[in-house]
Amino acid sequence: MSNFPSLTGAEIRQKFLEFYQRRGHQLLPSASLVPEDPTVLLTIAGMLPFKPIFLGQKEAPFPRVTTSQRCIRTNDIENVGRTARHHTFFEMLGNFSFGDYFKKEAIAWGWELVTSVYQLPPDQLVVSVFHEDETAFAIWRDEIGIPVHRIQKMGEDNFWASGATGPCGPCSEIYFDFHPERGDTHIDLEDDSRFLEIYNLVFMELNRQSDGSLVPLAKQNIDTGMGLERVAQVLQRVPNNYETDLMMPIIDAVSAIATVPYRQCDAKLQTSFKVIADH
Ligand code: SER
Repeated sequence: MSNFPSLTGAEIRQKFLEFYQRRGHQLLPSASLVPEDPTVLLTIAGMLPFKPIFLGQKEAPFPRVTTSQRCIRTNDIENVGRTARHHTFFEMLGNFSFGDYFKKEAIAWGWELVTSVYQLPPDQLVVSVFHEDETAFAIWRDEIGIPVHRIQKMGEDNFWASGATGPCGPCSEIYFDFHPERGDTHIDLEDDSRFLEIYNLVFMELNRQSDGSLVPLAKQNIDTGMGLERVAQVLQRVPNNYETDLMMPIIDAVSAIATVPYRQCDAKLQTSFKVIADH
């Protein structure tokens, strides 16, 4: 039985931001949900406000920053309330390097954060890398000491881009394993009854052109994203993001107004509560 501490959403956020501030990152406020970016309508990720910096169009105000960015992803709207983890509106914790540190530090700090600060047991974590990224694979295996069967090589799922064109790169993800007793022989990270992606480390070093070709960016950058609601689900040992202290108060308020107790509803009605809470 895992004995990691239960943390509130506010504590998870604070611990993330403090961890990276202690490692030289400037804390910046969440940017507007309406970005100054013609390629997207809304702020879909923590990296969005920094796109001009990654593209070399703007000077970085600091070499390292950390944020808790409010995001909207409309492409997930059909999954809201139906899965344990999808939202349209959510908060993404991130640490960013503008040509300062790269894979080695991002991986080492990401692992330290989840295993030492949040105290998730290493044997309940699986990592993934882009199948061509031998450097990231070797860092996880040789420097962090992850057994090779818990480092999964993935295809396009581990290549992250904010849009059809613009900054992008291979990524490496940390997954929480709810069922380590199922063993290591058939790890399928797509199985969301067992695995939940909690932290995405993007090695932002390419720029996709409108003809689809990839051109190296001037600098090798880091863009990471940790879904606050997902980590809260894990640490608070609740079955979905909605029943965390970040969202349950909204469901409770709706429940009180509707005079319909959420816990006594069938799954279909519970989905409606979750949709309202998300929106
Ligand atoms: N941009 C990446 C994501 O949104 C990491 O922050 O997953």
